Amino acid sequence: MLTDYLELNNYWHWFVIIFVFLNIFACWWLLRWSSKTTVESHDNTTGHIWDEDLQELNNPLPRWWLILFHMTIVFGLAYLFFYPGLGNYKGSLDWTQENQLEELMQAKAVKAESLQAFWNDMDIETLASNASALETGTRMYAQYCAMCHGSDAKGAKGYPNLTDKVWLWGSDLKAIEHTIRKGRQAVMQPWKDQYTQTEITALATYVQYLNGRAPEDELVSQGKELFSKTCVACHGMDGKGLQALGAPDLTNDVWLYGNDLATIEHTIREGRNGVMPAQETLMSEYELKVLTAYIYHLQQEAEK
Ligand code: HEC
Ligand code: HEC
Repeated sequence: MLTDYLELNNYWHWFVIIFVFLNIFACWWLLRWSSKTTVESHDNTTGHIWDEDLQELNNPLPRWWLILFHMTIVFGLAYLFFYPGLGNYKGSLDWTQENQLEELMQAKAVKAESLQAFWNDMDIETLASNASALETGTRMYAQYCAMCHGSDAKGAKGYPNLTDKVWLWGSDLKAIEHTIRKGRQAVMQPWKDQYTQTEITALATYVQYLNGRAPEDELVSQGKELFSKTCVACHGMDGKGLQALGAPDLTNDVWLYGNDLATIEHTIREGRNGVMPAQETLMSEYELKVLTAYIYHLQQEAEK
């Protein structure tokens, strides 16, 4: 073991002990020696004179200072008696860094457990307004979710913003809980085999028209025609989407992948399959609860 290796052999063990005691003795001796007055003249001067009239006095060290110094020596000796410091001597208290760490970790675990038990009795709505649960939720979010949804939870291309009012899979607590626990898998199949490039452009232009990005024209009505045959199944007649399928509302100006014509065409041509990974196998029930409360809190804040 490493500690065995570090253990001082007999010679160094005694060397350290003797050296430490010699040092302490030297301090004490220095104190005694310097507090003796060695007055050579009767007027309390040492006899040294500088610049013709500057004389060196020989005043004893102040009493309070001497007492403090003696106390330091006593403290040092007591410390060396209680704690390790003299060679291999372990100290009468048997204190070690390992023991102290162990005790601290145990105290922390007990604290965390009681906090968890306390939170376990609360429902998610209550947790979502509990400051310390939200603080833990924030930290968990940074650890588990920030790499995809961003450290500010505002998302990125392909990763939804969790701080706005627009939800792909639903904004109520049940939906959010399900999303986090079981994950979500969006399915929008590719359409390149069904539609020609012109048709895809017409569809994309119609999508732009739906949210006021394109004027109504020939292309748009062609797109509308095609849309009403296939796309409606998921995005609905009015293009407002379907949360049960995670199909986004195409009439608002919130985009998962982008709103320029080329990106929309790409979405239609190649399809999209966003995956929100299930979290229930990755964390404990209590962590799921706290994290869900945190996301629910974000949703509540967005509604304000
Ligand atoms: C089977 C259901 C389904 C059908 C049919 C479908 N979509 Fe989708 N669509 C989805 C889903 C689900 C998403 C979200 C994909 C994701 O989250 O990765 C989506 C995403 C989109 C997006 C991206 C929106 C954004 O915010 O970036 C566009 C644009 C779109 N669909 C247009 C269409 C058009 C046009 C059609 C018809 C050709 C169509 N969809 C047919 C399910 C469908
Ligand atoms: C590997 C990347 C990834 C990680 C990690 C991830 N997510 Fe997601 N999440 C996604 C994607 C992608 C979607 C969108 C799925 C889709 O296209 O429909 C999503 C969707 C969601 C939604 C639904 C949003 C809506 O509009 O309905 C919620 C809520 C959510 N994530 C929460 C979380 C939380 C909480 C965590 C941390 C435990 C997390 N996510 C971790 C990728 C991720």
